[in-house]
Amino acid sequence: MRTVDWQNNAVRLIDQRVLPGRFEVIDYTDYRELAKAITEMVVRGAPAIGAAGAFGMALAAQQSAARGRDGLLNDLAQAKAVLDAARPTAINLSWATNRVMTLAGHLVLPNPDDIRSAVLAEAQKIADEDVEINRRMAMHGAALIADGDTVLHHCNTGALATVDYGTALGAIRMAHEQGKRVHVLVDETRPRLQGARLTAWELKQLGVPFDLIADNAAGHFMYTGQVQAVFVGADRVAANGDVANKIGTYKLAVVAKENSVPFYVVAPTSTVDPSVPDGTHIPIEERPMDEVLGLETHGERVAPEGITARNPAFDVTPNRYVTAIVTENGVVRPPYGEGLRRAVRNV
Ligand code: MRU
Repeated sequence: MRTVDWQNNAVRLIDQRVLPGRFEVIDYTDYRELAKAITEMVVRGAPAIGAAGAFGMALAAQQSAARGRDGLLNDLAQAKAVLDAARPTAINLSWATNRVMTLAGHLVLPNPDDIRSAVLAEAQKIADEDVEINRRMAMHGAALIADGDTVLHHCNTGALATVDYGTALGAIRMAHEQGKRVHVLVDETRPRLQGARLTAWELKQLGVPFDLIADNAAGHFMYTGQVQAVFVGADRVAANGDVANKIGTYKLAVVAKENSVPFYVVAPTSTVDPSVPDGTHIPIEERPMDEVLGLETHGERVAPEGITARNPAFDVTPNRYVTAIVTENGVVRPPYGEGLRRAVRNV
């Protein structure tokens, strides 16, 4: 099933907080509850929260009691502000809500129910396109993987991080489906453990050979020549090719360059934000410290009580560490400015 879907007038999400222990879905009929679910990471991964945001706009349209076009557009604008604030770093969220809002604003339909239908149709289109875009990206990305390669992967960028299929993990999956022998080193990805919980769960089901590694082990594997490429996703790509992605990505990229290991970012053009000139302008979400302090082993908290922690959810990798950015419209190599502009315009 899809990670994000529209079923019986509700947004259906796979609850990623409880995987892999339990597979549960939750239906949302209130856009405010959906925004909370995005913040709490019931759904996570840039393209998946983009699709969730688009469906959130459809919920808002459905919830709105407005009897005229202007009233409905006002309600949609309010919902957009709530949804966009749910997670600040991934640009896909506001990209998707903008797309729905722009469509609604351009419609000259006097009957608000027709606008409601058009909003839902646009959200569904965003979700359907995501799956198709992922497959195109995966084709380009898989071409960068040779038979017998071991690739290192951070966070979760698979079907769970998208509507279906995946970005960086999609490329790895495609290489495997093409019959290449590919082995994956899966970073656990502290503190939320998206690698240990979600990527491991996905790869196990797909039958892709992998080993889970502690985040701290990545440097060792690169230094000892056991990694042929690093594959990651992105939450936002600046106009100059700086990349915001899951915390820890920057460290991986620096070590990759030091060891001449190619570092590939796989991201749809909806993740490119031409309005930010470089990575220093990308807002970095800082999440609750409990995500760091709450780690338990043998039912006991690891960290002492009464201490504080810092928990940035993302970091920025400067473009000089990025070998290539794989989009649905092709592989972009440095210098990134013009290449990314062309990829976004698909020319
Ligand atoms: O905090 P998360 O789990 O939403 O972070 C996800 C990532 O950092 C992914 O690498 C990124 O969103 C790309 S997902 C295809």
